[in-house]
Amino acid sequence: MRLDKLVAQAAQQSRSNARAAIRRGAVCVNGAVCRAADAQVDDTAAVTLNGTPLRAQEFVYIMLDKPRGVVSASADKSDVTVVDLVRGSWPRRSLFPAGRLDKSSTGFVLITDDGAFAHDILAPKRHVPKTYAVLLDTPLTAEMIAGFAAGVRLADGSVMQPAALGPGAEGPCSARVVLQQGVYHQIKRMFGVYGAGVNELRRTAIGGLQLDETLGPGGFRALSPGEVAQITQHQAAGCE
Ligand code: URA
Repeated sequence: MRLDKLVAQAAQQSRSNARAAIRRGAVCVNGAVCRAADAQVDDTAAVTLNGTPLRAQEFVYIMLDKPRGVVSASADKSDVTVVDLVRGSWPRRSLFPAGRLDKSSTGFVLITDDGAFAHDILAPKRHVPKTYAVLLDTPLTAEMIAGFAAGVRLADGSVMQPAALGPGAEGPCSARVVLQQGVYHQIKRMFGVYGAGVNELRRTAIGGLQLDETLGPGGFRALSPGEVAQITQHQAAGCE
């Protein structure tokens, strides 16, 4: 990669700021000052800016605990978006949410600039499960559990893929759902078939990666490479 590109990406600077820093002699490659913005540096090069080590990061992957009232989009005319919440920390990235939660839902939204990865984890063929904690307005029933396992037929006649449904940890109206599909308002519509309303819906995991509950509403952080890998490393969906 070109040195100015690496410095711009890793230090979250514009390309022109990066070039200015290189011209000033603020950038060292493998211990020696390098003033050539077009120098090619490989992955193993030790690059510093004002003495601080830099590492090129091709893409970012951000875990956000989406609060209620925020929309899952990059930009919106009237509502605050999930990208608005994190943009200040990655001002030069073209970020978007990989998958959506309803405005009233909370929990794990993955925000990234890696289109291929997002496409991969959302593709129905990849079967990356999404886990939700649900609070219903009525107790969970055996009929609902059996119906979800068989594949619910929605009011519009479409039949959903089988989904794992089991009791939640917060009493008879709480449930845990694991979906491998992403149909609009899917969980609300599936429970609606049984006359049950959804009072709260929170995504707690994507694939094998759990939401970090210490973030709190609106909290976010970059994922480590190991955590990104966990998203696609998951057990077969199930509610024990
Ligand atoms: N299903 C829903 O109904 N809403 C969500 O936000 C996610 C899944």
